[in-house]
Amino acid sequence: PLKKLLKATVLAGLLTSSIQAYAEPIQIKFSHVVAENTPKGQMALKFKELVEQRLPGEYQVNVFPNSQLFGDNNEVAALLLNDVQFVAPSLSKFERYTKKLQIFDLPFLFENMESVDRFQQSDSGQKLLNSMKRKGIVGLGYLHNGMKQLSASSPLILPSDANGKKFRIMASDVLAAQFQAVDAIPVKKPFSEVFTLLQTRAIDGQENTWSNIYSKKFFEVQSHITESNHGVLDYMVVTSSTFWKSLPADKRVVIKSSLDEALAHGNQIAAAKVNKDKATIEASKRSDIIQLTAAQRLEWVSSMKPVWRQFEAKIGKDLIDAAVASNK
Ligand code: LMR
Repeated sequence: PLKKLLKATVLAGLLTSSIQAYAEPIQIKFSHVVAENTPKGQMALKFKELVEQRLPGEYQVNVFPNSQLFGDNNEVAALLLNDVQFVAPSLSKFERYTKKLQIFDLPFLFENMESVDRFQQSDSGQKLLNSMKRKGIVGLGYLHNGMKQLSASSPLILPSDANGKKFRIMASDVLAAQFQAVDAIPVKKPFSEVFTLLQTRAIDGQENTWSNIYSKKFFEVQSHITESNHGVLDYMVVTSSTFWKSLPADKRVVIKSSLDEALAHGNQIAAAKVNKDKATIEASKRSDIIQLTAAQRLEWVSSMKPVWRQFEAKIGKDLIDAAVASNK
């Protein structure tokens, strides 16, 4: 009887441990650098909600906002080490992995977000999702944030107003060239450091979307914002080929469709935030919003546009032409 009892106990133990193993959901980490009340923050939370609703008990998505887990300097490296499974850096931050995406940084290339969207959805735009395949990075989709504005601790009306001023930029050589084109000094810094750099006056200005200027309180430490709409700040949601291939095919389909829906949700928020966050900044009276006349804006265009030629060989003339054509 003792033997029987032992056997039963061992069997029961095996059974519970296998049930436990089965019941343990697979953890997926999604890391990003912005606040939660942003297009990217809301998209990531929607993705979590949909995956957990559709694969209950099987997959759990943990979202880490505000550079909590990884920041600009290490999030893609962490992805390749499978320390995180999804990240969505701005398109300006992939330069180490492909030069093709530099297209999105060319100043005054896209007239508005509809043009950006048309280009991203075109064959050329969709092909770019695979531009980092050889590096083990899979592009799953684009997410909008919006057009960038110029903020500074003094008014920027003509390009000469930027002369000698230090601007924080994302790690992109195109953005560096863009500020050099107006004789300003570009400083590559991670997003998590921007507020303090502006507050302490270590730098004079920066470029960003209304949503980032609002959610990270840049407007509280910048006296002027020029509504320049001079470039786009959008994202690519990426995972690693190692992780993506490790998923069972049927789960991968559910995860991808959840992401597609989350991206559509994030894009709606991006569109709404342009006016909403701008209006909140305006109402706060912390920062003066400068509207350029057509003639003033043209000055910025003629100063910055020559940057295209510097990068044409690396990006490809055909790709640039396709992007220009998306302005219709
Ligand atoms: C920035 O670094 O300014 C942006 O890329 C932050 C973000 O992810 O929107």
